[in-house]
Formats: sequence, C-alpha cells, structure tokens
Amino acid sequence: MKKVYIETYGCQMNVNDTEVIFAILAKAGYERTESIDEANLIMANTCSIRDNAEQRIWGRIEVFNQQRKSRPGVLVGIVGCMAERLKDKLLDTRKVDLVVGPDAYRSLPRLLEAITPESPQMDVLLSREETYADITPVRTDRNGISAFISIMRGCNNVCSYCVVPYTRGAERSRDANSIVREACDVYSKGYKEVTLLGQNVDSYLYKSETETVNFAQLLARVADIAPDLRVRFATSHPKDISDEVIYTMASKPNICRHIHLPVQSGSSRMLELMRRKYDREWYLERVSKIREVMPDCGLTTDVIAGFCTETEEDHALTMSLMDEVGFDWAFMFAYSDRPGTLANRTMQDDVPADVKNRRLNEIIELQNRKSLERYRGKIGHSMHVLVEGPSKRDPNMLCGRASNNMMCVFPAGNLKKGDYTDVTVTDATSATLICK
Ligand code: 5AD
Ligand code: SF4
Repeated sequence: MKKVYIETYGCQMNVNDTEVIFAILAKAGYERTESIDEANLIMANTCSIRDNAEQRIWGRIEVFNQQRKSRPGVLVGIVGCMAERLKDKLLDTRKVDLVVGPDAYRSLPRLLEAITPESPQMDVLLSREETYADITPVRTDRNGISAFISIMRGCNNVCSYCVVPYTRGAERSRDANSIVREACDVYSKGYKEVTLLGQNVDSYLYKSETETVNFAQLLARVADIAPDLRVRFATSHPKDISDEVIYTMASKPNICRHIHLPVQSGSSRMLELMRRKYDREWYLERVSKIREVMPDCGLTTDVIAGFCTETEEDHALTMSLMDEVGFDWAFMFAYSDRPGTLANRTMQDDVPADVKNRRLNEIIELQNRKSLERYRGKIGHSMHVLVEGPSKRDPNMLCGRASNNMMCVFPAGNLKKGDYTDVTVTDATSATLICK
C-alpha cells in the first residue's frame, strides 16, 4: 500500500479538507502516514491569507524536494488556497508534481495516475456546486471527542483585504441532511462535540425541492441529535448574525455559548474601506444583543492592524472597541497586502511596517490584559466541561473546554476523556482556568 503524508496550514476548514483528501486518496490505495520519511506522496494543504503563510510553504517545498531527490519515485503535491492562487508558478519550480485547488480534490486519483517526471499535473478549477457532501472525512484529530464538519464552502463577501473569495470561489451550502447524517455518524462513533464550519455560517442556506434550511434551523437540527452532543460553529459575520441564531443558541443548552465574531477594526471609516458592510455601532449592538440573551456567552474576534490609510485615530478606535467589548480572546494580525484583492488593486498599503507592528503590539498587549481580566472574572464560578484528555503542562491533570470555549485544567479523579463534569474555578491565567 502506498503512503501519503499531508501537512496542513491555515484554518480549520483546511484541516477538514485534509480529512476529505485522506478519504479520497484511501480509495486510490493510499494509506495515511505521519512520517514524511516513509511517504510515497508528500503534500501540503496550504493557506494564502497572509504573505508569511505562503513564505512558510515555499520553505517546506525545499524540504519536500530533498525527499523527492533522495528517494526516487516520491511525489510532491501542493493543494489548497496557495495552489489555487499560484497555479503554474508552483509547477515552474520543477519541485512539485501536483497542484490541486480546493474544489478539485475528487480528481486527485486521476491526476496521480497521470503524473510522469515530464508531466506534472494540475487541476485548479473552482466549482459552484462542490461541497464533498457524500465524502466521509477520515478524522485526523487525536482525541476522538471533537469533530469538524464543513457545512458550506467558498465565500461571497468581498472584504477588500481578503484573498479567500479568489482561492475558494463562490459560496455554496451543503445539503442539510448530509450534515445531520455526518453529525449522527460521528456521535455514534463516540464523539461528543461537533463544530460546524464555514467562512460565514450565518449565510448558510440550503434549498432543495422540498425544503429550505437556514443556519438557525440547521443548528437546531444538529443540537437535537442528542443532548450530550455539544455543537459549536465558526465563523460568524457581524453583518449576518441574526436574532434567530442567538435565540436558537439560547434555547438549546448543548449549543455552546461561544461566538467567534471577527470585528477587524473599531473604526467605521476602516470598516467601510474594508467593505465589511457594518459599522462600529452595528457591531456593538450585536454584542449587546448576544449578551442580553446569553450573559455568559464567550466572545472572541479577529483584528487587523494597519490596513490601508489607517490613522492613529482609527487605531485608537480599535483599541477602545476592544476595551469596551472585552473579548475573551482575539487573533490579531498586521495587514498583509494580497495580490488580486480589491485593496491591492485600488488602495495603497501605506502604513509603514514599523507603525503596523507597533499598533499590532499595542493591540496584543491590550488583549492580553483583557483576556486575563475575563478569565480571572470566572474565579469562583462553576463550569460545565467536556473532558478532552491529559493537560499538556501537567499529565496528572485533565483539560477540557467550558461551554464558552475557555480551557479548563482540573485534577483527573475518576474522569476520562469524553466525560462531562462540573468544576469550580480557583485561579486563572489569560488563557486557562485552573479548577477543582
Ligand atoms: N492581512 C491580514 N489579516 C488578514 N485576514 C484576512 N485577510 C488578511 C490580510 N490580507 C485576517 C482577518 C480574518 C482572519 C481569518 O485573517 O482578520 O478574519
Ligand atoms: Fe483557510 Fe483562508 Fe487560509 Fe484558505 S486562505 S486556508 S480559507 S485561512
């Protein structure tokens, strides 16, 4: 049996795509390996979101190529967003045998058959229909407790900084019944948590001849599978997250109290230039609504520092919004100009690198303080956690997430992974609740 080794970069959707690729390659006689040295096929599932993500992959291609030179017959494939974006440029290196975009994974077996040293193969066609609905992903998580399920692909927003609509194509929603079936299937295999994935889950809309299912309805259906199956989802868009979704979450205790709601900037002027289609006030109103309905809901976000024309005043508005909302956690980035995006074509990346970095550091420093405040605020509270396994720091302790997504660490007792338990928070860092 041939062996395939895949490195995955970028978002959770890519992690799930890798699981789909393993399933497709299994049919072509490939078995998964975690050792690059024994692989017949070496792949990277890549990300293009920021320039540094792509730079890392160029470095990995050199490493893969050494394997290819020292072990004749080994094939190297680059798939995912960077494959879609850079196509021929990857093949031109002559270090890659296979280039496949996110909608073309079904053609992998055929392409692999056709590869010869003289003819590398490529398929980067984007699709309006492909959702891989009928493919059962080969789960690659190690704990067997928490599974990711893609509910849609692509993106129809045109955030001016973002490369995703170009690398992942138009938005399409997967058949609701196939999603529910997949969730039932993982539950029957012992999983206790599913995370529904999409670039913008709030615009999920599945239509067939007999039914129309929106995201709130899908959430409810998945939550109804079993009371001890937790449901999470990502990512929400502030312009689209509806009251119906918020009330559906509130009505089902097994839908986790956590929303990842990327704000990107606290300045309405920046949000307009970013084409986010909401302003600061709208965002703050959505946060108020969420907290009014679910006071204990965890909120996390994404922030970009130094987008085109950003002034000190805009930056101060981002800081004040972060201060006001008090996110539990945030992913924070310096703006990276991406070829082909609207910003790249029509705006100047005019914030100097040192200014971008200074603002990013200020944002990170503020968020660290806020995270510590938020986590310490839970001291004395009781948390319902799903046990994931031993804590990384201290193998005598277990770890697991609370409904609001905060990581908890607690003594093992008689607990094992997959159990639910109630713990009391006794101490906290900015990323972990210490519990008893
Ligand atoms: N530069 C920096 N950050 C970006 N993101 C998306 N595009 C860019 C870019 N060009 C960030 C956004 C998004 C997250 C996934 O990555 O914050 O929410
Ligand atoms: Fe995921 Fe976006 Fe990176 Fe593609 S570019 S892998 S969609 S984060």
